[in-house]
Amino acid sequence: MNKITFTIDGQACTAEAGQTILEAARANGIYIPSLCWFEGMKPAGSCRICTVRAGGRYMAACTQPVSEQMVIENMAPDLEDMRKALVEMLFVEGNHMCPTCEKSGNCELQALAYRYQMLVPRFPYDFPVRRVEPAGPKILLEHNRCIKCLRCVRGVKAKDGRRVFGALRRGGRKKIAVDLSLAAALSDRRAREAMDRCPVGSILKKEVGFIVPVGKRKYDATPIGSDLRKAEG
Ligand code: FES
Repeated sequence: MNKITFTIDGQACTAEAGQTILEAARANGIYIPSLCWFEGMKPAGSCRICTVRAGGRYMAACTQPVSEQMVIENMAPDLEDMRKALVEMLFVEGNHMCPTCEKSGNCELQALAYRYQMLVPRFPYDFPVRRVEPAGPKILLEHNRCIKCLRCVRGVKAKDGRRVFGALRRGGRKKIAVDLSLAAALSDRRAREAMDRCPVGSILKKEVGFIVPVGKRKYDATPIGSDLRKAEG
């Protein structure tokens, strides 16, 4: 297979033809922040946290294929500030109460807020009125925390391949819906996978939830992206 050569923040990298910028970056040990991307799933390109710049153009690293001799900027201060602003927008658009959230320490949005040292968002809070939906015997849907990344819609499927979750409406009124009979039929393992696929604490598996205590969870011990060699600073 043809190898492609390119650079990210001046660092020489190689990729397989057809890889996206984000996949190629990770294969080269470089972290590009992401939220709606999930390994092994078709990318949606919806959150734009992964935005990079190449040849003066902005692009979503999770959907844009890397090309020969591409010169990619990832950690430019203006790109990082834009990502921080996107994280802040997600915080003000929903109701994210990290200290009382079951996903604290495992939450990718919270981990990105720590990464960007977010204290008070620069935007006013919306304080939307949203439901907590008991979606059958296995799943609880906490709409207050949903960031509409659609990872659940794309990735959580019943045994016969039907989608358990779907998206209703568009734009700012978009809402995740669940097929109650398919959700009820999920095995415990699949219900846990659904919970783990959600980057925030919007899908919770009933009864057990997260077994590892707060303080010992994934991002409590290791800041997001720090398992990859960083092209920072
Ligand atoms: Fe690329 Fe969301 S991770 S747009």
